[in-house]
Amino acid sequence: METKNILFEITDGIALVTVNRPESLNALNSQVLGELECTLYEIEHDSEAQVVIITGAGEKAFVAGADIKEMAAMTAYEGHRFALQGQRVMLFIEKMTKPVIAAVNGYALGGGLELALACDIIYASENARVGFPEVTLGIIPGFGGTQNLSRLIGPNKARELVFSGRMIPAQKALAWGIVNEVFPRAELAGKVMDLAREIAKNGLLGVGYAKNAIVNGLNMVKEDGFRYESSLFGVLFATEDQKEGMGAFVEKRKAVFKGK
Ligand code: HXC
Repeated sequence: METKNILFEITDGIALVTVNRPESLNALNSQVLGELECTLYEIEHDSEAQVVIITGAGEKAFVAGADIKEMAAMTAYEGHRFALQGQRVMLFIEKMTKPVIAAVNGYALGGGLELALACDIIYASENARVGFPEVTLGIIPGFGGTQNLSRLIGPNKARELVFSGRMIPAQKALAWGIVNEVFPRAELAGKVMDLAREIAKNGLLGVGYAKNAIVNGLNMVKEDGFRYESSLFGVLFATEDQKEGMGAFVEKRKAVFKGK
């Protein structure tokens, strides 16, 4: 599919996805969301892609939110549909078998923070500012933010951020556990790439199963999560990667995983 607002390339197993609408600080309208969904679907089914990075074009923003100019004229029905469209993308990221890293290179607001929160790991630059300004617009987060943020940092801090609509700087987002690491702006892309390469070396299968256990386990009571984990653990013993990984250890050599 030809995508106008989403750039995407795969290099050495790393799929780099860039939301490319810098004139609107990469705001997500329904067209961008549709293109993002198609791109991620393509990546999920491309055996070359092992790890995914999502970032925003330009110097100012990762994604400054859902497109306010598009939302301004929506009816209740259209607003609901729009929220569902965005949620489908966020849930797809969670369901992908490949790990997804958000490289937050500036503003990550509203739907932009929701996009980052749907990813498995968030690395941010020092100039990043995150927040949920929705209540200042008379709405609430609608791409899963109320759910994902409170699960990640607990309901009290989530309520403070969402009720105030305030933006917080990268270091505070780090202290609150919203982002994993913060780097100088010029180092962000390199640090994200280093992490992606490190993960890619470990083989898609183990990493994908680990993602599955963590993400799905969060929706289960603990004992069910344990059961789920042990089932996935057992299934991996039917794979070539498990034989290769353990065989390589015993033979004192580096494992070469095939993802099967
Ligand atoms: C549409 C946006 C936008 C957005 C920025 N722009 N954010 N357009 N939707 N979310 C556009 C501006 O209108 C402007 O275009 C251009 O991008 C540059 O932005 P400026 O405001 O001129 O830049 P600056 O003064 O540096 O301010 C940056 C900013 C501000 C603080 C990030 O743009 C801002 O507050 N943006 C809105 C942030 C927000 O409220 N996000 C949450 C949206 S609600 P023009 O052509 O006018 O110059 C949401 C809901 C999700 O995300 C759930 C939906 C179901």
